[in-house]
Amino acid sequence: MAVREILIHPDPRLRKKAAAVEFPLSDEVKQIIQDMADTMYDAPGVGLAAPQIGVSLRIAVTDTVWRSEEAEKAGDGRRALKVWINPEFLWKSEETATWEEGCLSVPETYADVTRPAAVRLRWRDMEGVTHEQHFEGFEAVALQHEFDHLEGKLFIDYLSPLKRNLITKKMKKRHKH
Ligand code: NI
Repeated sequence: MAVREILIHPDPRLRKKAAAVEFPLSDEVKQIIQDMADTMYDAPGVGLAAPQIGVSLRIAVTDTVWRSEEAEKAGDGRRALKVWINPEFLWKSEETATWEEGCLSVPETYADVTRPAAVRLRWRDMEGVTHEQHFEGFEAVALQHEFDHLEGKLFIDYLSPLKRNLITKKMKKRHKH
């Protein structure tokens, strides 16, 4: 188990476009993915993109089940780790949905963000197999949020400049101690 440090906005490394991953995965990349999962569960969070631990590769991990109401009700700590490599959206719906978002790189900050409500995604798994699937609801939102990180984009970019500046100031203060 290796929990890595999560970069906090406004770290410039969060603003870099990440590079595509090559297959077969190297041992180093496999270790990065394991560390990303450990870091996400430790945080705790429901998603983490590689740039958030300072690795500029197109990889994200999510688990939209383990902290859900359904999992809490079941009380069995169920987990559903998913690994997304070189993801690309093939389609996004015109219909939008608004969800309250937060981000491990922008701690203790939540805001409503409006995004396409449904998406069709193509990605590769750790074995290099290509998948295509339609997503909607919370998972569609979570995936768009995570893959924005691969473009150097944060959810606060969808807010007004005024709100974003306030958040940036708050984060900078948080760094000084
Ligand atoms: Ni995030």
